[in-house]
Amino acid sequence: MTQALSAYSLTRGLKTAFIGQKVVYFPRLPSTMDAARQLARQGTGEGTIVLAGEQTAGKGRLKRAWLSPPGNVALSIVLYPDIAGLPYLVMIASLAAVHAIDKAAGLKAQIKWPNDILIDGKKIGGILIENEMKSNRVVFSIAGIGINVDLNIAAYPEIAVSAVSLKSRPGKDLRITIVRSLFTEFERLYIKLPDGEDVFRAWRDRLVTLGKQVKATSANEVVEGTADSVDETGALYICRADGQLTKVIMGDVTLREE
Ligand code: BTN
Repeated sequence: MTQALSAYSLTRGLKTAFIGQKVVYFPRLPSTMDAARQLARQGTGEGTIVLAGEQTAGKGRLKRAWLSPPGNVALSIVLYPDIAGLPYLVMIASLAAVHAIDKAAGLKAQIKWPNDILIDGKKIGGILIENEMKSNRVVFSIAGIGINVDLNIAAYPEIAVSAVSLKSRPGKDLRITIVRSLFTEFERLYIKLPDGEDVFRAWRDRLVTLGKQVKATSANEVVEGTADSVDETGALYICRADGQLTKVIMGDVTLREE
């Protein structure tokens, strides 16, 4: 019998100290980011998860929409990190997502700078980090993770060539395996903070971007060249044709096949 996705199926016997020990499940809601923010403002415990069966207004980076019909992973994690830990959140969430996909589906997922999860060069997931700050202090952070598990890509022409989805077998909801292992890996990495050295190295080693010809597009600039390196703040350095190294903090990267 198929085990249904529920707070119980995700938390039963879960061996984490705090990530995923409280799961608030909504069969349908606009965005887990907003629900998680509300819970954080009410002081919910660190590691509280908001999980959606379906999102009707899923949010992506740069104010884009995130498709989130039933059958996929859409969750947000409430965190209370030190300010020094902020740059590592996207790295931890990305590493936890690729680990969970590898383990559940036996595939080798990759990370494309800054926040994309890929399989065979196509996007299977994304990370969205939102922080609420007061002066120089983090009030809370929300790490949003979306993974296409049972998304009918063909039904969405806008992502048909760029996206991919895992496929749950009949009788087995892959989301339960994915989410449980995501909780464990997220916590394993998160408790290393504020020392993010290991997290940074693991993230850098998993990036598909480095060494590739790239085009980075940010709000006011387009930078083309070879993706040279990343630093601990998460910034990407691109070596242009004239040899100049340019730092890119935010934006989108297109990988160019040689
Ligand atoms: C991106 O690739 O642009 C980031 C996508 C992040 C999507 C997740 S799904 C769970 C959480 N809730 C949202 O509305 N967005 C994030």
